Amino acid sequence: LAADIKLVVKADQPGPVIHRNIYGQFAEHLGTGIYEGMWVGPESKIPNVRGWRKDVVAALKELKVPLVRWPGGCFADEYHWREGIGPRSKRPVKVNSNWGGVAENNAVGTHEFFDLVEQLGAEAYVNGNIGTGSAQEMAEWLEYMTAEGKSTLAELRRKNGRDKPFRVHYFAVGNETWGCGGNMRPEYYADQFRQVATFLRTPPHNRPVIIASGGNGMQTEWTDVLSKGVPGVNAISHHAYTLPTGNWDKKGAAVGFPESEWVATLGNVQQIDQMIAKNAAVLDKNDPSKKIGFYFDEWGSWYDPEPGSNPGFLVQRNTLRDALLAALHFNVFHNHADRVHMTNIAQMVNVLQAMIQTSKDKLVLTPTYHAFAMYTPFQDATSLPATLEGNPVYKVDKFEMPTLSATAARGKDGKLYIGLVNANANAPAELTVQVGSGAPKAVKGKLLTAAAMDAQNELGKAPQVVPVPYEAQAADGKLTLKLPPKSVVVVAVEG
Ligand code: AHR
Repeated sequence: LAADIKLVVKADQPGPVIHRNIYGQFAEHLGTGIYEGMWVGPESKIPNVRGWRKDVVAALKELKVPLVRWPGGCFADEYHWREGIGPRSKRPVKVNSNWGGVAENNAVGTHEFFDLVEQLGAEAYVNGNIGTGSAQEMAEWLEYMTAEGKSTLAELRRKNGRDKPFRVHYFAVGNETWGCGGNMRPEYYADQFRQVATFLRTPPHNRPVIIASGGNGMQTEWTDVLSKGVPGVNAISHHAYTLPTGNWDKKGAAVGFPESEWVATLGNVQQIDQMIAKNAAVLDKNDPSKKIGFYFDEWGSWYDPEPGSNPGFLVQRNTLRDALLAALHFNVFHNHADRVHMTNIAQMVNVLQAMIQTSKDKLVLTPTYHAFAMYTPFQDATSLPATLEGNPVYKVDKFEMPTLSATAARGKDGKLYIGLVNANANAPAELTVQVGSGAPKAVKGKLLTAAAMDAQNELGKAPQVVPVPYEAQAADGKLTLKLPPKSVVVVAVEG
């Protein structure tokens, strides 16, 4: 056992609120992420509400999904909203050129998307098209969604079945405009953004947060250019994926990987922390009053595609490693809660680091799902300083990371919550917990672990990664927590 590790929580020094949208989701027209995975259509034998699968929506509701980003991703910059309204049988069928070249029948469009977020009780994040779209197209889409009066577009929305306006909480001008969104330079995009944002008009009480498409990975120049007085920028998006090898041509396997790739994957969260810190420093310089949000609206693991699957569908297994990766991201996002008010894991169902995987009428909850479920008490909680003393380094080959990661917050229910990750794949860890100057009496919550690094929950088999109850009591004025190897623990402090 690694000994003499101490977690010190300063319960009397509240930090920023951990915005619930840090637990945001992303659903793109990609593979079976939407079609089959969530949307089966109203005529399907699979139980559904107006086309959306009941089982998937019910499982997502358990996660208290705060918002959903749609329709992309790269797909967003080839999406034309007018093709997704009106009778579904009359909508044009397009080629989804980004993702496998399959037919996109536009069955899910604006009305269907809002039906989904309303069923989930989530906010809507609509990603506009700057790549192949125009200022006019985006302005008219917003008018269609939000206009209250008798304009032709508002009447068209009514004719299509929606009387009252949709509530658009977030609207982005393009996606990855440094790449699939148009291969632009930051200065060129900033000028494009200025032009488009001028025309994004809505009733004042239905004004979305306008998001500028920002940079990737360690880049800071997009944040810099977009936060230097570009009118209309309310938030800047940023993306970073975790690839075990760091190599886009051979990313690493989702299962059956060596321990070095376990550490390389989980240890990458240190880079995520750095990229947020570097971009936050740029924002602190350009926007000291912290008006501009930094939204990490695509993150998660990206492995080699599942053998036999369409590589354009980004299907990958989800294992215990993904659960730890998610929890480590949460702990980092909490530390940056003053700037990071939204993040969106990629993606919600069947794609990349998904919450849920489906096959026909069956579904399975992934290890990542359980990490999200365990961390729900942190939504809108008030962060608290949490320091790990004596935290040993976990090293395999050239890869290393701190063994433990911790976070603490005062939940909206008034309880003090602690989240812990033991990244070491082999060794348990033991730590004492101090809150203020003393030891709490007890903790109670959930533990997630499994026997193998790549343990997974597979359709038709008993799930291997499921949270179990966890508790510990103080003895002799000390509260000691024992964390199994490769585990996530979330507890409420009692007394
Ligand atoms: O999430 C998959 C893709 O990754 C998104 O479409 C794109 O924005 C990113 O490159």
